[in-house]
Amino acid sequence: MSSTTQEGIKKWFDKTYLTKGFRYLRPIDAYEIFATALDVQPGSKHLDVASGLGLLAKCFANKEVNVDGIDLSPEAVSMAKEYCPEAHFQQGNAEQLPFQDRTFDTVTCIGSIERMLDREKALQEQHRVLKDGGKLCLMVRNSENFTWRFIKRPFGLINKEGHQDALNRDEWTKLVERSGFTIQQTYPDHWPYYRLLKTIMPWRKIDTSRIINFPYPLELAYEFIFVLQKSK
Ligand SMILES: C[S@@+](CC[C@H](N)C(=O)[O-])C[C@H]1O[C@@H](n2cnc3c(N)ncnc32)[C@H](O)[C@@H]1O
Repeated sequence: MSSTTQEGIKKWFDKTYLTKGFRYLRPIDAYEIFATALDVQPGSKHLDVASGLGLLAKCFANKEVNVDGIDLSPEAVSMAKEYCPEAHFQQGNAEQLPFQDRTFDTVTCIGSIERMLDREKALQEQHRVLKDGGKLCLMVRNSENFTWRFIKRPFGLINKEGHQDALNRDEWTKLVERSGFTIQQTYPDHWPYYRLLKTIMPWRKIDTSRIINFPYPLELAYEFIFVLQKSK
């Protein structure tokens, strides 16, 4: 993985967004859970790091949150600007955020930190731009999950060009704590469950913003949702 370059990751995402567009990402309903996890307020200032096509930005802007987004891929940024003109997007690297200290009430980084070459630097930057006591919501891949452990890793199905990676709960915990955050909550990713409900009951209105207590150990989750607070 270490042979992957920043330019290579950018090119891979540009190509993926050009060929797959919105099909590459989850639908907008899947982003509601992050608004609930952070309890975002109208008029607050939010930063979405690795903002992709602007789906989370659109979901938060619909709640009258002021959203900034930054992404490595110029293609993603141009599609996001068209999809969500209410937010402000720019191209850039999460490891060097172009914002002043203590600018944002809340920050998200969804399905992306594992793609970054220097994760600790990216987390320190998110910490820097958060106001004191501000909250960060991360969604990150779990390396103990069945698919990663028994299919993706042994059969070499990990996407190296896009720098796909995973850590276990303990490794993620140590990394975020080292970067100056206190863990407030850890949830399993809810989308696989909500997607299943929507598939088997397409006629039913499903509230995808609801946080659920699942009856299985968190260690089995496909991805973790961490809610973190800037602690120092
Ligand atoms: C799997 S996509 C997720 C997009 C978005 N967070 C979402 O959930 O819809 C990963 C994103 O991370 C971005 N990315 C990867 N490395 C980055 C970096 N160092 N700085 C900023 N964005 C980065 C990619 O360009 C891509 O848009």
